[in-house]
Amino acid sequence: MIITPLDPFGVRVDADVDRPGARLDELPVAELRALAREHHLVLLRGFGGFAGALELTEYAAGWGTISMWPFGAVLELVEHENPDDHIFDHSYVPLHWDGMYRPQVPEFQLFHCVSAPGEGQGGRTTFAHTPAVLRDADPGQRELWERVTGIYRRKMEFYDSEAVSPVVTTHPDRGFPVIRYNEPVAPDAEFVNHPDLEFTGLPDDQLAEFHDTLTAALHDPRHLYAHDWQTGDLVVADNYTLLHGREAFTTRSPRHLQRVHVLGEPALDNPALVR
Ligand SMILES: [Fe+2]
Repeated sequence: MIITPLDPFGVRVDADVDRPGARLDELPVAELRALAREHHLVLLRGFGGFAGALELTEYAAGWGTISMWPFGAVLELVEHENPDDHIFDHSYVPLHWDGMYRPQVPEFQLFHCVSAPGEGQGGRTTFAHTPAVLRDADPGQRELWERVTGIYRRKMEFYDSEAVSPVVTTHPDRGFPVIRYNEPVAPDAEFVNHPDLEFTGLPDDQLAEFHDTLTAALHDPRHLYAHDWQTGDLVVADNYTLLHGREAFTTRSPRHLQRVHVLGEPALDNPALVR
């Protein structure tokens, strides 16, 4: 495998130059999984991609047990005509972790780019390296973050749930500190189906400082990787460690991603789920 680092974190694995479009299922998943756990993000580029959702599902099953949704294994991330949720809009999506409202939290997300947005049309997927954010924080700032608990309520087509999590917590099986946080969006932002967010543990006059400092640290270029999609890319992300979001993109651009959730071994029952 040809492995090169991404900036500021993650690794890229390229297909051999003399074998463009090589099959992804020829790569050893055990080695890729080890890379995903160590570097938290793996980009596989130049491979053949998948002909459809079924092929992607078969590939993802090689990574572990797929977390099934009412719609099946594959979420088709494509803009809808009249979206009833921001996921299917072309708007910015704030940083969050996947599975926060579900019975189980997936360890990995596999994102497959069926069709990239055009040049200059935006739509990068953003990933924040939360242990690096904590490592680089000054002690006073970190102490402020550690006092806060987030309470999140969200209703959409596939769930109506409440999740409660300390902002600073620990990785479920590796023990290092991580951040679980859903960034608030400005209340006046054009954003379909807001989640209902509440943060406790600090007096009101310190909450603004909490959000400002944490958001700045998560978006610091030392901690944030923004992935510019190319058609055929497969990105595997460590959902236990990273937070992710999306930059806005031009409406009716050809951006089309597919996403599959793969559970850890054993599967992680969602410690934040209240209902
Ligand atoms: Fe997500």
